[in-house]
Amino acid sequence: MNILILTGSPRKGSNTDMLANAFADGARLKHNVEIVSVNDYKINACIGCNSCFTREGNKCFQKDGMEQIYAKMADADMLVIASPVYFYGVSAQLKNIIDRCHTPMRKNFKIKKTALLLVAGSSKPCVFDAIVRQYELIVDYFHFEDKGRILVGGVNDKCSIDGREELKQAYSLGESL
Ligand SMILES: Cc1cc2nc3c(=O)[nH]c(=O)nc-3n(C[C@H](O)[C@H](O)[C@H](O)COP(=O)(O)O)c2cc1C
Repeated sequence: MNILILTGSPRKGSNTDMLANAFADGARLKHNVEIVSVNDYKINACIGCNSCFTREGNKCFQKDGMEQIYAKMADADMLVIASPVYFYGVSAQLKNIIDRCHTPMRKNFKIKKTALLLVAGSSKPCVFDAIVRQYELIVDYFHFEDKGRILVGGVNDKCSIDGREELKQAYSLGESL
């Protein structure tokens, strides 16, 4: 499979990145894995004009980093969303990408499988609830196959995920694919 991992933390080498790397190390044993740090791309928010529905090739009128992300998504068999929890949601950078998938262009995507990797400062399990529910609804809507979720609470400072058991779980999840 071609596995595309979108990492949503603007903090380089962050907890999100470390979790995504652990997953990728396991997955690379059998698959092609690309990690894309979405903060490296300038991606505007969807403005809801719906002009992509009638435009040739269903292309968005906005010429920004999303053109590259669309191309990566078109090549991917599996999509992994890796994000810090920001006010109970994914980071704004990732949300922009999700919203920009409100386009008929996505009919060209062949993504069948997904996974979710999250980190949060709080240790309360409920801190992930809103994102997990949104993820479940999206998986259901698109008939994706959910391959798993790794949710890591209680990590706030950069790299405080180091040594956590969930890094091994993320590796195993990647390896299991
Ligand atoms: C804008 C912002 C909003 C945040 N909101 C939450 C939150 O709602 N709940 C929580 O537990 N942690 C919250 N955090 C803490 C981050 O989830 C936590 O520091 C995480 O480890 C950051 O991931 P990173 O190291 O990959 O950047 C927030 C951090 C920021 C910067």
